[in-house]
Amino acid sequence: MFNPEEFVNRCIKEIRKLGIDCAIAAVSGGIDSTTAATIVYKVIGDRLKVFFLDTGFMRENEPEHVVNLLKNVLPSIQLTDVKQEFYNELIGEFDAEIKRRKFRSIFYRMLSRLAKDYGCTWLVQGTIALDWVETRDGIKTQHNVLEQIGIDTCKEFGFKVIEPLKELYKDQVRQVAKYLGLPNEIVYRQPFPGPGLLIRCVGKFTLEKLNVVRKATKIVEEFLKDKGFSQWFAASWEDEKIIDQELTKLIRDKYNKNVEVYKFTSVKGTGVKGNSRVYGPIILVNGDLEEDDVYRVYIDITTEDFDYAHVIYHILDGNKNGKYYVTIRAVITSNFMTAYVAKLSISELTNLAQKIINEIPEVSGVGYDISPKPPATIEFE
Ligand code: XMP
Repeated sequence: MFNPEEFVNRCIKEIRKLGIDCAIAAVSGGIDSTTAATIVYKVIGDRLKVFFLDTGFMRENEPEHVVNLLKNVLPSIQLTDVKQEFYNELIGEFDAEIKRRKFRSIFYRMLSRLAKDYGCTWLVQGTIALDWVETRDGIKTQHNVLEQIGIDTCKEFGFKVIEPLKELYKDQVRQVAKYLGLPNEIVYRQPFPGPGLLIRCVGKFTLEKLNVVRKATKIVEEFLKDKGFSQWFAASWEDEKIIDQELTKLIRDKYNKNVEVYKFTSVKGTGVKGNSRVYGPIILVNGDLEEDDVYRVYIDITTEDFDYAHVIYHILDGNKNGKYYVTIRAVITSNFMTAYVAKLSISELTNLAQKIINEIPEVSGVGYDISPKPPATIEFE
């Protein structure tokens, strides 16, 4: 059985042996980065310089909120605004992996600059096992995985990396965070990816899309917050699609209902097949299926030779002049390696979709992602 106290004591001993003079840590308010920084803070105190990098992909008011929340735990925390650096290089970028890689390189360039400014030669990271397992297996480029894929951080960025949590899974990190007395809001916070809303602006990155995703995220997070799900959020992309005649016939024949199946044309989404990554079409099912069938229909679509990453069930049409399709995602999982779709009722989803449409004029329609992991990933990119 995992014992958080023993784990922390062992970490402290190992960190002491490193003889760290000064280290920097970038915390996001997520449980992983905050827990890792707190462990190192216990050993080196004020010689740990803590930064919240505002990449421009955070949720509404998140940077100020997190910095205030963490002042008691990590007193040296500073908010550093690096939005423009990220936007300058990412606007117009389309491909999921390129977006991730660019994000990672800008992120570490910023950290490298901070480390030099403060004369620190160490970086503390909250990398956990899932991060490097999925990056190693080519499922995605996790923003914080470096050494495990052969990057020499000393040579490239001028710092060595300490990753106290790298062998742990999410539920174990939560036990450590609780043991360390971190605020409940951190311990029970749903995970949020390092590249943030960037990878929920599916396809081409624009500031207009980011604005839609940020507003939709706020509505979805608030609406589903007390349901006990593991992760819940919104993503968005251009509502450009064509009907898939073959899939439409297949689903109509099977369920005997008036259903249409579309393929979004300007975006792709990520999935996992076996041990590798799929970057394939996102499918939309539109029709009046029975509620149980809604949660079954992805099986008919993701057959043996599928290349579809995510299957969305259409909930509600939006505004006539709207350009963006919004998808709600809610999953249940303990380790984030596999995940079930949360079975919300269609009437609840309709209420949520209506709220999104009322509050965001750019939204043309709202759907619910009905794909488990695998074959989909939890995020879309
Ligand atoms: P996927 O989409 O791979 O996500 O099924 C599994 C879990 O990891 C989170 N995630 C990330 N976390 N940096 C992070 O710190 C990243 O680059 C990243 N990508 C995905 C995701 O939100 C989910 O909880």
